[in-house]
Amino acid sequence: MAAPEYPGAAQYPEHLRDQVDRYLESLRFSTEQAAGGLEEAMRYSLLAGGKRIRPVLALATAKAIGREPVWVLPLAGALELIHTYSLIHDDLPAMDDDDMRRGKPSLHKVFGENVAILAGDGLYAEAFALLLSEQQGDPASVLAAARELAQATGVRGMVGGQYIDVAETAPFGPDGLRRLHELKTGKLIAASVGCVLDLGGNLEHETISGFRAFASELGVLFQIVDDILDVAGSAQTLGKPQGSDERLGKRTYVTEFGLRGARRLAAESHERARAVLSRAAGEQGAELSQITDFIATRSY
Ligand code: IPE
Ligand code: IPE
Ligand code: MG
Ligand code: MG
Ligand code: MG
Repeated sequence: MAAPEYPGAAQYPEHLRDQVDRYLESLRFSTEQAAGGLEEAMRYSLLAGGKRIRPVLALATAKAIGREPVWVLPLAGALELIHTYSLIHDDLPAMDDDDMRRGKPSLHKVFGENVAILAGDGLYAEAFALLLSEQQGDPASVLAAARELAQATGVRGMVGGQYIDVAETAPFGPDGLRRLHELKTGKLIAASVGCVLDLGGNLEHETISGFRAFASELGVLFQIVDDILDVAGSAQTLGKPQGSDERLGKRTYVTEFGLRGARRLAAESHERARAVLSRAAGEQGAELSQITDFIATRSY
């Protein structure tokens, strides 16, 4: 597969992204002919060409702790399956009502809302089936990773954050907004690093807390930039509609701090993430450092 261009952005670890793309392409879900249309819908969104930030983070974390990236491919696949499900549901008319995703019509526009709901449900369950049946590691470590992934995506994580977003219940002020971002986006990004630490077994306590501090900063940075791009990006480059947050009256870093303020906070968060990473990973964190710079400077 040809390496995609990242206009105006830092270098991206394409070799890891290629490994992820090949792995995702190889996944099959259905054994029933009658459910073949559901698998088609799941693969439509999964293989539409996302940036693969979460699985690539998992592979890069494996490298940073001295392991082969290929070892965590099942976990990486599970992360991307869950992320894809979250996008499918996020775009539904009852949620953000967005018609474009990953440069193509949103799943519900092509397959209908009922199939889109089921495709999301299917991707979520298949993620855990994949992790629990294919991921190598001692059973206690695999279970720890599965627990972290479930918590990161449940009520104390992504889904809780999505609720706070749609119900507009985030406490007033910057701390409330940061908490919203930590939950709806940050937890899954943090788990992309954290689950690899779970699988890695006996790492030093200090190493673990350093990587975890890095990952949680990165998660918030990611969503601040997403908020900025919703205002300053273009739909064609983003592959999803621009201006969706404003249309829906969402509370974002841009509504709270203005575009300049949000950019300043993103730059500060970027610096913090870089500093924590270099303390935690040193030389071995080259790919993690590339992803960090990409997340901060990306245009899509
Ligand atoms: C978009 O995520 C949704 C958010 C969590 C803000 P990405 O920007 O990682 O989307 P893809 O995977 O590249 O399509
Ligand atoms: C969604 O945040 C985060 C998810 C858990 C999917 P957004 O609603 O800002 O994501 P985009 O901008 O539609 O990708
Ligand atoms: Mg949303
Ligand atoms: Mg959305
Ligand atoms: Mg957004």
